[in-house]
Amino acid sequence: MGSASHAFEKSAQYRERALKTLSYGVSSTPRGNQQPAPIVADHARDAHIWDIAGNRYIDYAAGYGPLILGHSPREVIDAVKAELDRGLRTASVHEGEANLAELICRTLPCASKCAFVSSGSEAIQLALRIARASTGRTQVIKFRGHYHGWFDSVHAAGAGGNDGPSTIGQDPGALKSLTFLDWGDEDALRRTLTRDYAAVILEPIAVNGGCFMPPPGFVETVRRLTRELGVALIFDEVITGYRLSLGGAQALLGVTPDLAVIGKAMGSGLPIGAVAGADAIMEPVSSGRMLHRGTFNGNPVSVAASVACISYLERNADQLYPRIDAMMADLQRHIVASAARHGVTCAVNRTGSAMQIALGIAEMDTLAGAAKADFPATQKFAGRLLSRGVQIIGRGLMYMTAAHTDEDIAETKAAFDGAFAEEASERS
Ligand SMILES: Cc1ncc(COP(=O)(O)O)c(C=O)c1O
Repeated sequence: MGSASHAFEKSAQYRERALKTLSYGVSSTPRGNQQPAPIVADHARDAHIWDIAGNRYIDYAAGYGPLILGHSPREVIDAVKAELDRGLRTASVHEGEANLAELICRTLPCASKCAFVSSGSEAIQLALRIARASTGRTQVIKFRGHYHGWFDSVHAAGAGGNDGPSTIGQDPGALKSLTFLDWGDEDALRRTLTRDYAAVILEPIAVNGGCFMPPPGFVETVRRLTRELGVALIFDEVITGYRLSLGGAQALLGVTPDLAVIGKAMGSGLPIGAVAGADAIMEPVSSGRMLHRGTFNGNPVSVAASVACISYLERNADQLYPRIDAMMADLQRHIVASAARHGVTCAVNRTGSAMQIALGIAEMDTLAGAAKADFPATQKFAGRLLSRGVQIIGRGLMYMTAAHTDEDIAETKAAFDGAFAEEASERS
């Protein structure tokens, strides 16, 4: 496993075919940037994924986060099959919706009411609408480097030094109601935040930004100031919800927001998102005064998967989260030592079962620091791992799942050793 052994010709041939009719050959741009080639998934089981050439990869991309239980959790697959056997009841009122809402309200500290959509990006839009409806205000504070989905109204200030739109084609006017601040800058927050704001939105634990905890006391300060001014505090827990703990980042930090946005892991791989909050702030949507629309909202198949997933997590939380966190910690220690042994500069950050590696920097504890990482080199390094049968997200992010085994970890360690050796020899 230490040597490059996987061939990518079949995936490359598929890409040539797909590019003729499918935009960028993929359905979400970053997937098209995987190196040496975007692998074309054929099937998957547990923590493993096979491409159309029959190559097997130990998977730490985990569907970009959702696959907390791996690729084939029995309970979830059985629930989805049973649901399909009841016929496609899209856009119907069904009992699964209340079952899921009750589970979320039991497990997520801020939740007394829930509303469902089909993705994290949609859930962010719904949360902002609820915050505006309940405060009667419009302006929102967003932190630089925090990602809140791809819609025009929030897809901005993702990279250091760019407070504008994140892509060509965005409506610059859609950003009018946002004010950007630096994460952790308490003075700027105090200067800026007034009763004119509807909401402050943030990723309480920055997984996208580089897997580090918030500056000590910062989230608590945001909580205090927003409460004093009647501004809605929105936690974007699309990644951290059901990933870092059963109660998400809010349970870990001991800070309860007014609204939480969840997605990814709650659906175990099926498309779903939700907004959850206290009765008072959810009143506009729970009374029906505010419009919340969507043909696929609460679709029975995704809801069945989510009920099965959260029920499983609730029953097994005491063992499951400590186990995947410890497995990632073990891998982290190995990667740090292996990089040092091979003389490769590489920061390795971890928050629970999420880990970020970044070549070209030794440490990464702020968003500004993370921006100094050598991302092309990191992406190339991800390619070296892929060639050795280990898939991570190209920008260096990795997720542990409940399906990974000790054998997977041992194989992964050998793959990192081989990749660092190759990196070092190419540089010398
Ligand atoms: C923190 C955060 N918020 C929102 C989103 C958007 O979710 P989705 O891709 O399901 O639309 C993401 C996606 O990566 C995310 O990481």
